[in-house]
This record gives sequence, structure tokens and C-alpha cells, in this order.
Amino acid sequence: MTCLMVYPSFVSPSIFRCPICSLPLTEATTQAVCANQHQFDRAREGYLNLLPVQHKHSKEPGDAKVQLQARRHFLQAGYFDGMLSHLFSRIHELLSDSDGGRLLDIGCGEGHFSLAMAKEFPACAIYGVDIAKSGVRMAARAAQVAGQAIRYAVASSYALPFEDASIDLVTRIYAPSKDEELRRVLNANGCLIVVVPGVNHLIGLRRRVYADIRDHKPPPTPSGFEYLGHSDYQAGLTVPAGSDTAALLAMTPFSWRMGSILRQQLERDGLEDRLHFELYSYRVCS
Ligand SMILES: C[S@@+](CC[C@H](N)C(=O)[O-])C[C@H]1O[C@@H](n2cnc3c(N)ncnc32)[C@H](O)[C@@H]1O
Ligand SMILES: [Zn+2]
Repeated sequence: MTCLMVYPSFVSPSIFRCPICSLPLTEATTQAVCANQHQFDRAREGYLNLLPVQHKHSKEPGDAKVQLQARRHFLQAGYFDGMLSHLFSRIHELLSDSDGGRLLDIGCGEGHFSLAMAKEFPACAIYGVDIAKSGVRMAARAAQVAGQAIRYAVASSYALPFEDASIDLVTRIYAPSKDEELRRVLNANGCLIVVVPGVNHLIGLRRRVYADIRDHKPPPTPSGFEYLGHSDYQAGLTVPAGSDTAALLAMTPFSWRMGSILRQQLERDGLEDRLHFELYSYRVCS
């Protein structure tokens, strides 16, 4: 119980809305409730579960625990830090008032990026949602340990549990979304940053798995948004043999197609490859 005491701002006013009837939620320390008395418990780690069972398409939707743990291992080892700095520069450029604002990371996974955002933008309120409960639990626990009051919820990015026009900037890093929902939760000046793998991302690994490497197409501009710009982050990637290589393979779905001999060989030898991320920025159309 004591761990919840670091989160006094969880109590109203809240921008979360009821995932069942869309009325505003009133937040208290142990739960959130709407005027229709739909109640949602807050977990020990501080997150809300706003994914009603009727919105679940499987028992445990989203990434599996083993993938989330692998991603935690690999990201904490710092391999994506260059991309993160690149992303932060873009957020600094886009936030008109860097002294405040609400940032939402959709498909936040185990929370590496949202935790880093909380540290980089201390005056902002940081929100994270993911459909995988084990990811949100890991993210919320890490935020507690770091003493960061990040508001996490288990929720789908296809039905975001936020009030209209309540968010200033959304990041979507390798995660699905629905244009209408992004447009709805962003305010009139709101921005969206989409991070996707570039054509050279893990190109060495991909060549070992696929006979043909398909072209990466730029994502279409989401409807209701204007395109602001695009930038690349590319860097060499050296991963030593052992647990870091094993984590990269476990968190990279296409590598599951590899035979066990190649996988063992890579884990034994490590790998040299390339990182390539593309960042696309958009603003809500006026
Ligand atoms: C490749 S991971 C990226 C996680 C995180 N953004 C990162 O870069 O570390 C994709 C994430 O999207 C989540 N996801 C998949 N479908 C989702 C949905 N409908 N709503 C919210 N999250 C979803 C998965 O559970 C997973 O955590
Ligand atoms: Zn309700």
C-alpha cells in the first residue's frame, strides 16, 4: 500500500474516461469510477485496468511476457539510446510549451520509452497504454522504483480511455493505432510521432531469414492529420554473444522463423548489424 503514496496526483481531476460508457472517470487511490458506477480497480503497481473483458479478443492480448522481458533486457542495455535521443529532440521541437503538457505513449510495452520521457520532460504528465497487462505491470513497477508518477493503463489503442482533446503529443513506437482515436484524444494543436523500422533495420538478420527483402513503404499520413516531417536515425549495431543476442532474437518476431542451428550460432558468436529507425511527425489538421 505504501507505494501508492507517491502518486497523489492520481486523484481527480482525471483525463481517463470509462471504457464502457465513455463518461469521465473519477480517480481515487484504489479505483476509478464513472457516473454510471462502472468501477475499475487500481493495481498495487498504480496502473488502471481499463480493458473490459468484452474488448479482449484473446485471454492475454498483446506481446507475451517472454517478449516483454527480452525487450526490457535489450533496451536497458542501451542499444536504442541513440534513437531515444533523436526522438527527444523531435519532441522538444514539437512541444510549443516545454514547461508542461500531456504526453501519451501508445503500445508502451514494458515502459522503457515512457520512463525515459518522464525523466526528460519532468514538467509534463506522462501516460502510457498497452493491451498487454504484463507489459503495463512491468512498466508501472519500474516507474514506482524510479519514483516517477507515470499514469499507466491496460487499454487498447483502438479505443483509448481518454477524454476528447486531452493530450498534447502521442508517440507510437512500433505499435498499432486507429487514426480516429488518435485524432479524438489529441487537442487542436496536438502532435503525433510515429516510429517505424527503416529499410536497413536489422538488415543482416533479415537477410538470414528471408529470401526476398520486401521494400519498406512510408506509412500513409493518418486521416485528420497534416504531415510535418520525417527524419532517420541509423547506426551500426554490435551485440556481444550471450544474453544480449538472445534478447534481441526473442524480441524480434521475424527471427522466430530462424532455424535452431542459426539461432545457437548467433547466440554463441554475437552479431554485427544495423539499426535504422524512421520518425514521422504529424499535427492535427486545423
Ligand atoms: C513491438 S512492441 C513495442 C513496445 C514499445 N513501444 C517499445 O518500443 O518498446 C508493440 C506493443 O504494442 C502492444 N499492442 C499490440 N496491440 C495493441 C493494441 N491494440 N493496443 C495497445 N497496445 C497494443 C503490444 O502488446 C506491444 O507491447
Ligand atoms: Zn461507465
